[in-house]
Amino acid sequence: MAILVTGGAGYIGSHVVQLLIEGGHEVVVFDNLYAGHRAAIHKAATFVQGDLMQPDDIDALFAAHQFDGIMHFASHIQVGESMTRPFKYLRDNVAGLLNLLQAATAHDVKRFILSSTAALFDDPARVPISEDEQLNPGSVYGETKYMAERLLRWMDEIYGLKYCALRYFNACGAHPDGHIGEDHDPETHLIPLTLKVALGQRDQISVFGDDYDTPDGTCIRDYVHVMDLAQAHILALEAIRDGQSRRYNLGSGRGFSVLEVIETCRAVTGHAIPAVMAERRAGDLPRLVADSTRIKSELGWSPQYDDLEAIVRTAWQWHSQHPDGYAD
Ligand code: UFG
Repeated sequence: MAILVTGGAGYIGSHVVQLLIEGGHEVVVFDNLYAGHRAAIHKAATFVQGDLMQPDDIDALFAAHQFDGIMHFASHIQVGESMTRPFKYLRDNVAGLLNLLQAATAHDVKRFILSSTAALFDDPARVPISEDEQLNPGSVYGETKYMAERLLRWMDEIYGLKYCALRYFNACGAHPDGHIGEDHDPETHLIPLTLKVALGQRDQISVFGDDYDTPDGTCIRDYVHVMDLAQAHILALEAIRDGQSRRYNLGSGRGFSVLEVIETCRAVTGHAIPAVMAERRAGDLPRLVADSTRIKSELGWSPQYDDLEAIVRTAWQWHSQHPDGYAD
């Protein structure tokens, strides 16, 4: 298939592009390089630099290419920033998607995969969190993904655009061959920040709160490998050919506390990694773990990385070989 990947120069997008190309698909990456990296774009992909907030860029893209499907990664992703700069998120994430959908429907694209998030589940009634959990975004970032999922329902009803919303829990790790990985600026995620301490780029890792109602008092998250997430996109693209839209929660189903993650990073890197206790970070929930039974049973998703140490090892390979990320 000919697939448009918005945000294909970003962390998760670049790993999905790799699998699409290995699977024989033709890929066009559309990215404004605001957060993505030119060096992360697969050489076999066609790269179009452009912005979803610029209708002329989108018109030119669709005039030059025909697409069987779209995978939409391009968006701002920081929960904390979305609470201080809400309009940046609402405008770019929501209006950018609307511009894309307008072009997609005008050009009769029938398949759409959305990057969605566990940030839809504020204060869940049951953990592990299944797709039956009530949607309750706890941040403006989460709200933009909630709106995106809602908008897609209407696109399906009105235009027959079949979609799959994939709600990632904590994406982490890197391609096992070490050529692509995570490079955010600023970096806010636990695993890359902890590994930067091991690299000597930071003095210590701050633990945001040790008085939560969890066994060691620190927050529990479901760390899921980026290659496993990428695999889910390929399965979802195939699955919606049957004409049914879907939504899935994607995680490993196992939770690890902040202290367990830091301990695993120490074991993998062999570095002491000093940690200091700090205040709680606003908006953090004590426990977010996915119930991914549905995608496993319906699409046969079978994550290959079920062990945190193996996940951190791939991240460490990337960070230690690319201490300055893509250096662009
Ligand atoms: N943490 C620290 N110290 C740090 C960084 C993080 O203690 O320096 C803690 C956080 O407080 C949290 C855990 O480590 O308890 C994981 O934090 P991350 O920032 O790595 O990830 P989040 O769980 O906050 O966010 C992830 C995704 C978001 C998504 C969210 C869904 O990165 O995009 O899950 O809730 F929206």
